[in-house]
Amino acid sequence: MTKNTRKEAPALPLNTIMSGDCIEAMNSLPEESVDLIFADPPYNLQLRGDLHRPDNSKVDAVDDDWDQFDSFKRYDDFTREWLKAARRILKPNGAIWVIGSYHNVFRLGAELQNQGYWLLNDVVWRKSNPMPNFRGKRFTNAHETLIWASKGEGAKYTFNYDALKALNEGVQMRSDWVLPICNGGERLKDDDGEKAHPTQKPQSLLHRLLVATTNPGDVVLDPFFGTGTTGAVAKMLGRDFIGIEREEKYRKVAEKRIKAIRKFDTEALTVTASKRAEPRVPFGQLVERGMLRPGEQLMSMNGRHKAKVRADGTLIGNDIKGSIHQVGAHLEGAPSCNGWTYWTYQREGKNVPIDLLRQQIRAEMN
Ligand SMILES: C[S@@+](CC[C@H](N)C(=O)[O-])C[C@H]1O[C@@H](n2cnc3c(N)ncnc32)[C@H](O)[C@@H]1O
Repeated sequence: MTKNTRKEAPALPLNTIMSGDCIEAMNSLPEESVDLIFADPPYNLQLRGDLHRPDNSKVDAVDDDWDQFDSFKRYDDFTREWLKAARRILKPNGAIWVIGSYHNVFRLGAELQNQGYWLLNDVVWRKSNPMPNFRGKRFTNAHETLIWASKGEGAKYTFNYDALKALNEGVQMRSDWVLPICNGGERLKDDDGEKAHPTQKPQSLLHRLLVATTNPGDVVLDPFFGTGTTGAVAKMLGRDFIGIEREEKYRKVAEKRIKAIRKFDTEALTVTASKRAEPRVPFGQLVERGMLRPGEQLMSMNGRHKAKVRADGTLIGNDIKGSIHQVGAHLEGAPSCNGWTYWTYQREGKNVPIDLLRQQIRAEMN
C-alpha cells in the first residue's frame, strides 16, 4: 500500500486576529487561500518634533514606534517582504488594496508593479473634513490614495460594477470618493477617553471597497489590522476576515469592537449582480435548442432591418453575414451593437426580444 505523504494544508484562522509580525503570520498561511487583502501599512511619516495648533495644544499625530523606519531603504525592504508574503497567499484571481499618503504611497505602488501585481485603479479618498494645515506652509492635506491591483495582468478579479452604480444612484462610480474621516461615535476611545488608535479608518471606506470587490463568503485579510475596521465591516457584510496586528492593545480594542457587530440579514447582502458576471450564453445555443429555427426571420427593435438566422448561430441580412452583434452594427452603421437587445423574433403576432430566450436559459442554469 502506498503511503499518502501529502501534507494537509493548515486550516485558515477565519474570523480571528493573529498576533505578531504580519510577514511571519502570512507566511504561516496556506498559499492561494485569500480572496482579498486590504492593507493600511505604516505611513513612515518621519515627523520632526511635535506639532501644535494655534492655541498651543499638541496635535495628536502618528508618532508611534510602529511607524518609525530609519531610512527609505528600511521602509522599502519591509514593503517588499510583506507584499511578497501577501502575494503568496492571494488566490490567482484575488486582489489587493493598499492605502497610503504622499509619504509612502508611491513607494507602495512601485513595489506592487515590481512584484508583478497589475494596477487596476488608484482611488483618491477625499476627506470631507480634513485636519487643517496648522503651520500654513503647505496645502491642507485632504486626501489619501488607495491602489487596487490584481495578482497579474489578465486575472479575473471581482468587480461588482452594477452594485457600485446602484450605490451611486445609477451613476457609474468614479475613482474619487468623498467620505468623512472617522470621528464621532465611530471613533474608538481607550479607558482614558483618548483615541484608541491614531489612524482608525472610516467604516464607509471599507464598506465601499468590500461591496465593490468581494462577494459574501469571501476571505478578506488585513495584515495591519489596528482597531479592526476591516474585520468589523467584513463581518457586517457576511465576508470572513483574518486580521494580523502586532500590538496587543489594538488587538484587544479590535476584538471587543468586532464581537459587538451583527451581520446584516443575508437577503440584504445580495447586491445587484454584474451583467458581466452572469453566465455567457452563445446565440447559437438558442438555435441548437430549437428556440429559434434556421431560416427564421429576426426584426430589429426599431423595425427598420431584418435578418435571417443560420444553422451555425450567425445571421444573414442585406449581404452581410456575422454574429447578432456584427450584423446589427453593420445595418445601423454603428461601431458596435448589442445584438441581444437589438433583435426580436415573432411569436403569435408579437415582436419578442431575443434576450428573453437568453434569460430563460440563464434561469435554468441557476
Ligand atoms: C495605519 S495602522 C492601521 C489602522 C487600521 N486600518 C484601522 O482602521 O484601525 C497600521 C497598524 O499596523 C500595525 N503594524 C505595524 N507594523 C506591523 C507588522 N510588521 N506586523 C503587524 N502589524 C503591524 C500597527 O500596530 C498599526 O496598528
